[in-house]
Amino acid sequence: MCGIVGFTSRNKSAVGPLVNGLRRLEYRGYDSAGVALESAEGIKVYKQTGKVAKLDNLLSRALPESERGKYTIGIAHTRWATHGLPTVANAHPHVADNGSLALVHNGIIENYAALRAGLEKRGVKFLSQTDTEVIAHLIAAFDKGDLLAAAAEALKRVEGTYGIAAISEKHPGEMVVARKGSPLVIGVGEDDIVVASDVSAIVAYTRQVIYLKDGDIARITPNGVDIHTLDNSPVTREVQEVDWDIGAIEKGGYEHFMIKEIFEQPDALANTIRGRLDPAGGTAFLSGLSLSPRDLAAVRRVVIVGCGTSLHAGMVGKYLFEKLADIPTDPEQAAEFRYSNPIVGPNDWVMALSQSGETADTLAAVRESIRKGALVSGLCNVVGSTIAREAGRGVYLHAGPEISVASTKAFTAQVTALLMMALKLGRTRRLSFEDGDRLVKEISRLPELVKKVLEGNEAIAKVAEKYAKADDMFFIGRGMLHPVALEGALKIKEVAYVHAEGYQAAELKHGPIALLSEKTPVVALLADIPGKEKTLGNVQECRARLAPVIGVVTEGDEAAAAAVTDALTIPKTCAELSPIVTVVALQLFAYHVARLRGCEIDQPRNLAKSVTVE
Ligand code: M6R
Repeated sequence: MCGIVGFTSRNKSAVGPLVNGLRRLEYRGYDSAGVALESAEGIKVYKQTGKVAKLDNLLSRALPESERGKYTIGIAHTRWATHGLPTVANAHPHVADNGSLALVHNGIIENYAALRAGLEKRGVKFLSQTDTEVIAHLIAAFDKGDLLAAAAEALKRVEGTYGIAAISEKHPGEMVVARKGSPLVIGVGEDDIVVASDVSAIVAYTRQVIYLKDGDIARITPNGVDIHTLDNSPVTREVQEVDWDIGAIEKGGYEHFMIKEIFEQPDALANTIRGRLDPAGGTAFLSGLSLSPRDLAAVRRVVIVGCGTSLHAGMVGKYLFEKLADIPTDPEQAAEFRYSNPIVGPNDWVMALSQSGETADTLAAVRESIRKGALVSGLCNVVGSTIAREAGRGVYLHAGPEISVASTKAFTAQVTALLMMALKLGRTRRLSFEDGDRLVKEISRLPELVKKVLEGNEAIAKVAEKYAKADDMFFIGRGMLHPVALEGALKIKEVAYVHAEGYQAAELKHGPIALLSEKTPVVALLADIPGKEKTLGNVQECRARLAPVIGVVTEGDEAAAAAVTDALTIPKTCAELSPIVTVVALQLFAYHVARLRGCEIDQPRNLAKSVTVE
């Protein structure tokens, strides 16, 4: 949530890089945006409600090209509102000391009310309703000639999470950044240094990056980066190379990132699988887990924590681990888990699923599990993310950057990674070589299978046209297709603003069926898994109430195709892979419904990609 950018250069204007950086980070929040620019004449702040494009317009009017060169340092922010409405006053940067200090912040300051009351007593006038503004005033109050020391003093008094960047007229050419609980990355170029909430805002300038750790604070000038702890001990952080380039985060001819990312799935899954299958042993290699067969044999229970789409992937994981490895598996919503005083210990394997690797509740669940002595692994997409680092061991998804707020390729990559983990765990137990071998072969076909679903894009778009005006939809599936029904419903809610609910197919008649009519399409997941015949019975129940049924059916399954009003076709595969091929058809369906309804597909209202608040 919220995106931060900072830029300083020996010779370039900061204006363009800051605005471009904000555009890259806009998926993190888009209620308002702002920049603070410093020159020899002092600091100027420009803020605007709405998207970065509006800020860019404002800057075009206020700052002619001829004037931009004098601003070689600045900070910028795109906001997802927590404290206070999305107004210009609440937009970042926030200023203190008569505008001589400017600050941007991502995170939440939990004790801001007490800090604000204290500052107000001392005569400080607040201009916004945000929690952030207190940090700006505290830094100004502690500034006795050293900006880093002042920021460190201020941050020692703050409870909560933060990623910040600050500049001050009293310290020309200097920027101070710090993090605790909110990500911050520093890109080190030849003549420029870029700071951002994630590397997507940095790769246009450099692929050499430093990931700050929680508790780090850094002074940045065009000459270099000087990192300390809050207690002022210098620390060294390694410079790492980002292994993808700018092309990965551009639309590449697609109308939206969502459809681009849906179509990237064959390649993304090939990357998730690459080097991880062991045909000779009928198993998988997952070296990042650093677990011996003995460690794996000691596991008595698996707990999978996540939120949103990642939680749904974890729910599919339950079926995979129980089926292939005979291990009881509990998927848990991360926030519920962390506050439930969870019963986990050394024989429990807690897996944290997160595309971003920054989701606050999932991170807290990781910390709680580590505290309780459980075996903890992260399954993250973003390399170097906080969950990946704190979990210590895990599996990277390698799905490539996911920009669309609605998660698509991360889900299929998560399920694929879980499947390989279940296969590995199963092979340390009772899963036979023959069964392992069958799965290894089918997993290798996965990119091809997904390509086949994508070939049905136009047919799916036609079906979407028939139902794009519906206000309510139901999604039904059983077994490992139940979480896929939840995911299908989530996708269409998020991007098309259609009210949708996912149910176990058998549950519909226990109440929700009362809502069915010819106006409520039901999407029935009919891939070939045990129980499909029963779901076909549920389809009849829906049709008897006049509800049109859109079936996701296996090619060649004529009985299923005949039972539904419209069919979305998927290729034949084994039960374990059916959630993946099914969900791809649902992603396309949601995308087309959203497109036909004229929705803001990549940045749906009220949402943000990376949920770093509780
Ligand atoms: O980055 P994470 O996977 O931890 O994010 C979890 C959820 O916030 C995320 O999946 C959210 O539900 C997406 N908008 C779903 O499309």
